[in-house]
Amino acid sequence: MTAQPELDKIVILLSSGIAQRKLYFAGHPKVKSLGEEFIALLHAFLDSAARDELFIGVIDGKLVYEGRFLVGPSIAGGQLIRFAGLLHGGGFVFARGTTAEEITELLGLAADLQDPVGGLAEARALMAARGLQHVRVAAEYLDPAGVGADNEKVTWQGKDQGGGHLDSPVLIYQALYDVVTNAHTNAALDRMLDIDNARSVSEYLLHSTRESFTDIIQLMHYPDYDSYTVGHSVRVATLAVHLGNKLGLPEEGLLELGTAGLLHDVGKSKIPDEILFKPGRLDKEEFAIMQSHARLGAEILMEHKTATPMDVAAAWGHHRRHDGGGYPAAPAWAVRDSVTALLQVCDVFEALTAIRPYKAPMTPREAYGIMLKDQGAFDPGMLRAFISTLGLYPPGNQVRLDDGRQGTVLAAGADIERPRVKVLVDAQGRRLDAADQHEVDLGAADAGDLQVAGLVQDCEAALA
Ligand SMILES: [Fe+2]
Ligand SMILES: [Fe+2]
Repeated sequence: MTAQPELDKIVILLSSGIAQRKLYFAGHPKVKSLGEEFIALLHAFLDSAARDELFIGVIDGKLVYEGRFLVGPSIAGGQLIRFAGLLHGGGFVFARGTTAEEITELLGLAADLQDPVGGLAEARALMAARGLQHVRVAAEYLDPAGVGADNEKVTWQGKDQGGGHLDSPVLIYQALYDVVTNAHTNAALDRMLDIDNARSVSEYLLHSTRESFTDIIQLMHYPDYDSYTVGHSVRVATLAVHLGNKLGLPEEGLLELGTAGLLHDVGKSKIPDEILFKPGRLDKEEFAIMQSHARLGAEILMEHKTATPMDVAAAWGHHRRHDGGGYPAAPAWAVRDSVTALLQVCDVFEALTAIRPYKAPMTPREAYGIMLKDQGAFDPGMLRAFISTLGLYPPGNQVRLDDGRQGTVLAAGADIERPRVKVLVDAQGRRLDAADQHEVDLGAADAGDLQVAGLVQDCEAALA
């Protein structure tokens, strides 16, 4: 049995390292420490798994390890997956002797490579030329255990960790991560953003949201480790499109909303990491710098012809309160648009309920309590709409019913305490086969007194 969180961390570190390497030169302390951190994690992992090498496979645009599909890393790992694709590779093998310098070289190659190489042989020659001895690119479709012949295609037979139908939501989520990562990287380097791409990925989000919001939102529970702003922006956009959809916004408006949500914190790319990731309290000066991300984001977007007024307004105004407070300061006559009000609610809810290394995530009930108490912060109608749309047990959450059964929330009910639930585990704790899984609508008359007993925070542990 391997330590899943450690493995996730290794893979996410590698993928976010590619994005980091695009920002900093090879000898930068950040890049160096990233390589060292990777090596330390790799060795600890190899020791605990009693292995001499780690093989991370790429199959169908997703990351796999020993026949298991790695959901979290696949979401955040778009950069790594694309890199493997450019090399015509089916994954990467890291041997025990891998050095921090080799990781820096690998990230450098990933950051530099724009177009596909001629084939796997060329990819391997390229890696050898960079001095990569202990890191190899594996052949495509090599089977996950590493025993398939080089060009033999092996059908993927792994299963999703969550047991759900995550296929296309994972790829959509991955694309959303990529859009935000690229937007922030380009903004930091004073390059133009690809706003059209953000719009087209929002279109995917919108259509998937209509059909399978539960699948999409389940992915919100995967922690980010070190890309808080990226994951945050993706989750805010997802919540915003879901709420906008429920409020009956027209398609064009929803597309704009998704794009505005993805890009609302792009100004953070201009905030130094020391402030952005400072674990403790910010002092007055640091706080003022942090707050400037709203104005900076609007300025960045205003330079783009393809950015809509909504994109600019959302970046500028998402920290402004309903009562006129917040930041940036605005004259009393300034009218706040409803889209910014909507995004503000999603932004605060996401920040309160997000999984972070330095705090326990709040439950939706706790988050709503805080938001309702903060009088004047939110447009009251918008906050009410948000709460009734998501309910106390938002879609995608795992809940336990008071008769012992467990399942996934499919949708909030008219009563926010009584959602519609798909039961996956029986009262005795046994996981049900697909044929025996069933829906319970707690809002229906035949549900009687049956109630939600509580959220199951660690769904994987519960459903294993
Ligand atoms: Fe913000
Ligand atoms: Fe935000």
